[in-house]
Amino acid sequence: MSTKSGILSIDQGTTSTRAIVFALDGTKIASAQKEFTQFYPYNGWVEHDPEEIWKTTVETCKSALHQAQEKGVRVVGIGITNQRETTLVWNRETGKPIYNAIVWQDRRTAAFCNSIKEQEELVASKTGLLLDPYFSASKIKWLLDEIDGARELANQGKLAFGTIDSFLIWRLTGGISHVTDMTNASRTNLYNIHTLCWDEALLSLFDIPSSVLPKVLESADDFGHTKASLFGRAIPIAGVAGDQQAALFGQCCFSQGDLKSTYGTGCFALLNTGSKALQSKHKLLTTIGYTINGETTYALEGSIFTAGANIQWLRDGIGVITEAKESQALAESLDYDHGVFLVPGFAGLGAPQWDPEARASLYGMTRDTSQAHFARAALEAVCYQTYDLQQAMASDGICSSKVLVDGGMVANDWLCQFLSDILQVEIERPENMETTAIGAAYLAGLQLGLYRDLSDIASHKKIAKRFTPSIDKDVRQKLLTKWQKAVDSTLAFSR
Ligand code: G3P
Repeated sequence: MSTKSGILSIDQGTTSTRAIVFALDGTKIASAQKEFTQFYPYNGWVEHDPEEIWKTTVETCKSALHQAQEKGVRVVGIGITNQRETTLVWNRETGKPIYNAIVWQDRRTAAFCNSIKEQEELVASKTGLLLDPYFSASKIKWLLDEIDGARELANQGKLAFGTIDSFLIWRLTGGISHVTDMTNASRTNLYNIHTLCWDEALLSLFDIPSSVLPKVLESADDFGHTKASLFGRAIPIAGVAGDQQAALFGQCCFSQGDLKSTYGTGCFALLNTGSKALQSKHKLLTTIGYTINGETTYALEGSIFTAGANIQWLRDGIGVITEAKESQALAESLDYDHGVFLVPGFAGLGAPQWDPEARASLYGMTRDTSQAHFARAALEAVCYQTYDLQQAMASDGICSSKVLVDGGMVANDWLCQFLSDILQVEIERPENMETTAIGAAYLAGLQLGLYRDLSDIASHKKIAKRFTPSIDKDVRQKLLTKWQKAVDSTLAFSR
């Protein structure tokens, strides 16, 4: 194995696009990052400009490739990981998207999803998902119904649908590959996770012609080559996974019962359930973790729509803090009994409540309430929400004694400790915090024969720090009781 080989990972996230070159042992060689514009045209709508996503992708890739070359590292393959569910439709002839990307957080199709609520059991039995605007299908329907001439073009086979991975691969390969991988397909509400096929009954429920769909490949597979004019040579794209599944892979959660929780824009806890697609009775999702060499590993998922986004709101929305990292010192300045609770329904509430109409609420303010209370309540909220997921998993019969965490927010030691206190389990933070990007790189490396197998990949993982519970049990119970009251009031307000 050459030490001079590297893998380029494209991590196209909700708020920024990153390109990172990893050495085969997981060391970061080069990286570049660009944020892009978030559009909020109406209440509950969230959009991205596909051209800006493409531009930031090309620019960050060029920069990372150049840095790697300067360091004598040759990139031999590309892995892609992406914000999931975000929906794009483009014209196959012109290559132009017919509208902005409708982002996973977008709630515009809530009324439609509600109107077919009686089909939820059918949808869940096939896809492992619920009927919620979060997933791609209702967004595709909206695009075909609302954009002038779109349905007609789709019926003529002239339009293509893709999640972000699919759109990027299509552009990177110069329009040759219209493909996606099974983890991304499993987030659309159209893909049958048991038969591993697009589902005719669901396509008809959402009124979507099969002509728009990409071909679905495994997560480590041959997705095509970048067109030579882009980066000076053709590079194989060999690994693709939605960002949460990539993090599961990057955390080396390869055994049944392994649980990871990623704190990015949102928070997503995924539990490896092995070859069994476990159906939750408590509103968790069943999803494809990864498919390699014909073998599918399933995961149970709890999805929280805002985590880092709460802190972003404090910084960019209301200017309570100027930098995200201030939040740790502010949170630490208060005691457990500070009394303020934030229920962060900024994009509705995901698991386990699933209320797209819910909105964020803040409880318990007094004249003494300061920026510290806001920061602490925002950080505590993601821990309480993770507790709600843990409870849902426990009700489904799964109790994990350890949670592997990653994502920007967990650089905050206070947050990790509070999480351990509230969940009453060990929290383990890896040395390499780029678990999402490394997961995609590992998938590509596996396909290219750079790793022997999963245990070869796992041999590169190092733990940075462990947190164990230390809170007083009564104090914890009081906090959880208050949290539950705050959630109940928020749900009552949205009705
Ligand atoms: O399902 C949405 C998820 O993929 C977004 O991830 O990293 O932006 O929180 P992130």
